[in-house]
Amino acid sequence: MAEKKTFYITTPIYYPSNKLHVGNSYTTVAADAMARFKRLTGYKVWFLTGTDEHGQKIQRQAEATGKPPADFVDEIVEWIKELWQELDIEYDDFIRTTESRHKEKVARIFERYYEQGDIYKGKYEGLYCTPCEAYWTERQLEDGNCPDCGRKVELIDEEAYFFRMSKYADRLLKHIEAHPEFIQPPSRKNEMINNFLKPGLEDLCVSRTSFDWGIPVPFDQDHVIYVWLDALSNYITALGYGEEGSIYEEFWPADVQLIGKDILRFHTIYWPIFLMALGEPLPKTVFGHGWLMLQEGKMSKSKGNAIDPMVLAGRYSSDALRYFLLREIPFGQDGIFSLESFITRINNDLANDLGNLVSRTLTMAERYFDGVLPKPSAGEENTDQELRGTAQNTPVAVESAMDQMKISDALAELWLLVRQSNKYIDDNMPWNLAKDPASRERLGTVIYNLIESIRFIAVILKPYMPRTPESIWEQIGISGNEELQQWESLDQWGRMKPGTAVRRGEDLFPRLNLQAEIRAMRADKPLEEKAAGEPEEAEEQAGLINLEQFQQVDLRVAEINSAEKMPKSDKLLKLEVDIGEETKRQVVAGLAEYYQPEELIGRQVLFVANLKPVKLRGVLSQGMLLAATGDDGILALTTVDKTMAPGSRIS
Ligand code: MSP
Repeated sequence: MAEKKTFYITTPIYYPSNKLHVGNSYTTVAADAMARFKRLTGYKVWFLTGTDEHGQKIQRQAEATGKPPADFVDEIVEWIKELWQELDIEYDDFIRTTESRHKEKVARIFERYYEQGDIYKGKYEGLYCTPCEAYWTERQLEDGNCPDCGRKVELIDEEAYFFRMSKYADRLLKHIEAHPEFIQPPSRKNEMINNFLKPGLEDLCVSRTSFDWGIPVPFDQDHVIYVWLDALSNYITALGYGEEGSIYEEFWPADVQLIGKDILRFHTIYWPIFLMALGEPLPKTVFGHGWLMLQEGKMSKSKGNAIDPMVLAGRYSSDALRYFLLREIPFGQDGIFSLESFITRINNDLANDLGNLVSRTLTMAERYFDGVLPKPSAGEENTDQELRGTAQNTPVAVESAMDQMKISDALAELWLLVRQSNKYIDDNMPWNLAKDPASRERLGTVIYNLIESIRFIAVILKPYMPRTPESIWEQIGISGNEELQQWESLDQWGRMKPGTAVRRGEDLFPRLNLQAEIRAMRADKPLEEKAAGEPEEAEEQAGLINLEQFQQVDLRVAEINSAEKMPKSDKLLKLEVDIGEETKRQVVAGLAEYYQPEELIGRQVLFVANLKPVKLRGVLSQGMLLAATGDDGILALTTVDKTMAPGSRIS
C-alpha cells in the first residue's frame, strides 16, 4: 500500500497571560478545520498547538497576582486546554515551552549557534516593548510608541547575546522570491520585503539578563534566552528535533504555519533564519490571517473588550461559533465580530438553510414512508440531475478552495448544495405528490435524493462543524455505518441503502430572537441567570409576554356546524361555528386544500373569538380557527381531546 501523504500544521503558541478571547480562538479553529479536512481526505496529519510561557511579560503578570510564574501559567494553560476541548480542537500535540522536552533542545540549539559563530556577546542599549516581547529602533517607533501595539516602550541597557541576522538576509530574500507560496496571502510578502529585509537586517538581541523567567543560556547562566527564539523553536522541538527515531523526519518541514498577521515578521524573517542556521528546510507556507475586530477596534486581552469564546460556545454551541468564524471572514482578511452578524448567520445559514432542510426532509420521510428510506426510480428528471450534479461537484470545489486556504469559500460551496436541496423540495412539492397515489414512486425518488444529498452535506461539513453531522447521521440512519461517513463514499451518488430506517430528531439549530440575544449578552449574564434574579427584565429580554398579555386573547372551543366551499376560490371555506353565543359565528378559513367541507362538520376546534371581523372576498369573517402549519406546508386543525361545551374558555 502506498504511504499516506503527510500534512503538518501549526498554530502560534499562545501567551498564557490571560484567558484567550474569540480572536485567538479564530487561529486555532481555522487550523483545526484544516487539519480535520486533511485527515478526512486521506492525509496523515500532525496538528500542533501549545503555549508560550516564558518572558518578561508573563513574569510581570505573575508577580502582579502574587503567584510564582509556574503556578500562574499552570492555571491558564488548564483553562486553554478546556477551551480547546469545548471547541472540539483535535490537536495531536500540545507543547508547553516550560516542558523539559522543549527547554533542553532550545538550550542545545542556542549552544550550537554560539559554537558555529552565529551568536556573539555584546551590549544592548535600546528599546523594548514588553507586551509584544519585541525590540525596536527609535526610527521604527510610531509617535514614540510600539508600532505593533501602540503601547509605551522601555529603554533597556544590558549585556546580551546577538544573532547575526544580516549573514542570512540575502539567502532569505532569494528564498522568498523563489517560493511565492512561502508567505501567504501574497499581499503580506511585499510588506516583509520592503519594511524589514530591504532596509537591511540588524543583528537580533537573543538574550536578557534583567529577569529570570526563561531558559538559561547553557554556558552563561546570568542570561535567559530571548522568548521569541525560545518560542519559535517549539515547531521543531515538539516533533523531537535532534532525537533518534522521532517524527521530525516524517513531518518537517511544516506544510502550513498559521499565524495572525501581527506576528508575521517573527515567522517570515527570524524563524526562517534560525532554521537556515541549523541547516534545516523552511516551512512550505506561513499563512498570516487577518484580525477579528470589534466595531470599536481590535479586540485585546489587555483592553478588556475581549469576547469570551467559552461563553459564546456555551450559549450558542461550539459548532455555531466555529461556523461563524470560518464562514464570515474571507480567510486572510480582517473581519468584524458582532453579535448581530453571529445571530444572523445562525438564523439564516444554520436554522433556515441547513436545519430546515433536514427537518423538512425527515418529517416527510416519516409521514409518507413511515421512516423507511424509499427506493429511487431509475429515470431522472431535470431537477434530480441538477441536484446530483451539484452534490458531485461539491467535494471537488470544497477541496480546491481548501487547498488555497480559502476556508470561507469552501463553506460557501457547501451551502450551494444546501440551498440547491431546499430548492429541490420547493420545485418538486412532495406534499402535492403525496396526494396522488400515481405519484408514489416519484415521491419516493424525491425523498431518497434529499436524504442522499443530506448525507453528502454532513460528510463535507464534519471538519468545520464536528458535532452537527453526528446528529444528521443519527437522523438518516447511518450513525453506525462509518463507510457512508467517509470522504471516499462521495465518489458515487446513491450509496444510501433503500430500506434504511430514518427518524426525525431535534431541530439542529432553533431560530434565535436577535433583540433578545443582544439584550441578554449586553447584560453580560446568561439569560437563565437573570431569570432567577430579575424576572421582569428577563421576560422582556427573551421577547416573552406576561400572563395578562396572553389573556387578552379570547380563546374558545368552537364547534363547526356547517362548511362549504367559497365560490371561485380553491383555498377558502365558509364555515358556521357555535361558540356558545346566541348567534352562530361565520368564519372564512383557508382550509379547502386540506379538508373536505363534509369532514369538518361536528369537529370541535380552538378558536380566537375576539379578533376584529374582516371581509374576505366580500364575506364577513368573525374569528379565526387555529391550525398548525408544518415546514412542508401540511396544515392540521387544533382540537380538544374531549368533547366540550361549545364556547368553553381556553386558558
Ligand atoms: N506567543 C506569541 C506567539 C508565539 S508563536 C511561536 C503570541 N501569542 S498571543 O497569544 O499574543 O497571540 C497568538 C495569536 O493570536 C497570534 O497569531 C495573534 O495574531 C492572534 N490574535 C490575537 N488577537 C487576535 C484577533 N483579534 N484576531 C485574530 N487573531 C488574533 O503572539
